[in-house]
Amino acid sequence: MIDLKLDKALITGIAGGVSLDIEVPGDKSISHRAIMLGGLADGKSSVSNLSLSIDNRATIAAFRKLGINIKKQNLTGSGKDFIITGKGLYGLKEPESIINTANSGTLTRLLIGILAGNDFFSVLSGDKYLNSRPMKRVREPLSLMGAEIAGRRGGNYPPLAVLKGGKLKSIYYEVPVPSAQVKSCIMLAALFAEGNTVIYEKKATRDHTENLLKLQGYPVRIETHRAGGSLISIKGNNGGGLHPFEIVIPGDFSSASFFIALGILCKDSEITVKNILLNEKRTGILKILKMMGANLDLTVTGEFPERVGDIRAKYSRLQGVTVPSETVSDMIDEFPVFSVIASFAEGKTTVTGAEELRVKESDRIKAIVSNLVRIGIEIKESEDGFEIIGNPDLNESKAVPIILDSFGDHRIAMSMVIMGLLLKNRQTEIHDIRCINTSFPEFFNIISRLPVY
Ligand code: S3P
Repeated sequence: MIDLKLDKALITGIAGGVSLDIEVPGDKSISHRAIMLGGLADGKSSVSNLSLSIDNRATIAAFRKLGINIKKQNLTGSGKDFIITGKGLYGLKEPESIINTANSGTLTRLLIGILAGNDFFSVLSGDKYLNSRPMKRVREPLSLMGAEIAGRRGGNYPPLAVLKGGKLKSIYYEVPVPSAQVKSCIMLAALFAEGNTVIYEKKATRDHTENLLKLQGYPVRIETHRAGGSLISIKGNNGGGLHPFEIVIPGDFSSASFFIALGILCKDSEITVKNILLNEKRTGILKILKMMGANLDLTVTGEFPERVGDIRAKYSRLQGVTVPSETVSDMIDEFPVFSVIASFAEGKTTVTGAEELRVKESDRIKAIVSNLVRIGIEIKESEDGFEIIGNPDLNESKAVPIILDSFGDHRIAMSMVIMGLLLKNRQTEIHDIRCINTSFPEFFNIISRLPVY
């Protein structure tokens, strides 16, 4: 039972034998970028299957506040198709009030890059979780480009104010943490800068901004660095305008991952998720699951502007694994659900090099450890990861009812609901679950289609 009024879920495990075909809403990362780049394009872009999560609604509201017309169109009757009438690179207007960035790091960090290129005053502020996430990582490169940005505690935390934007200069910048948000922030600011901006990432991260800019016919050059990683060069100002585009946003892989986990972990089950984004910078967990022995089938159905396809996940006995550190950023949002999977694998699973998890929507290492300890799972916390000794018979274990907590983090909440569904002899109560709406409001409907044990 999920009670949104009481803001908690009371989950009874399922016996197994789940057979489901599902679709999940459009990808959150691409949805943010489609709204932003549509707003900067010269004319009307058509965006279908946009995510209408709270985070993405905040991006729509932000661009409306900046003077962009975003209108529903009735292409498929899904209510998720929009026309965005861009006004060109310099068409945004000064917002009359604070822009609410809700729970969204992507909105905050990408938008501040765009606002830095505009010669007006603007302020960004989100919820209490967002306002305690570090912003020095974007303020620093934007300052080097010539923008003046103020914020709490020495400029490191929102609210953030762009005191002086516009007239940016290009830079060469090595991104110190593996972060697509930081890379994309600089890329968007670079559109407004004089000359050629070059960004070096030691480990290439999700490339949705690059892919969308290519779709718009904008000159972006991506090269592999001889030391590994990638170099992204982007022309400013004189790079020409951003063409309007048409896109159907593929299903969100991160949302799908909860049901992939359920398909693998639930006895005699088979779950297929259709029309899912299969960008390799996002699907690192699939590689790790295969190493663990998971029965997964992928069918690619499209390649441009992003790879898309179907994933079938079947019940599998899993072995513990050491996650190679080079895979961490390719599965950065999947560690909460991965910790659930590792709890059911035979033997030890080790995660290191994942210190970025400490500065997500919650301190995800702490949130994972705190919840799994309550269930009785053997888990050790480290500064940059965790180690789990899994138990393949965990779903059979009988014990007192337990109370888990989302820590206000949507992905922790959904992972713990999946955990609760797998613990078939227990009642699991999960508190503070409304945050699931941050990324995946439809999660509740899909869960309600499952047979309850
Ligand atoms: C995102 C990048 C990642 C990811 C986030 C979405 C994006 O953050 O965790 O959910 O859309 O660029 P970082 O860039 O901070 O790693």
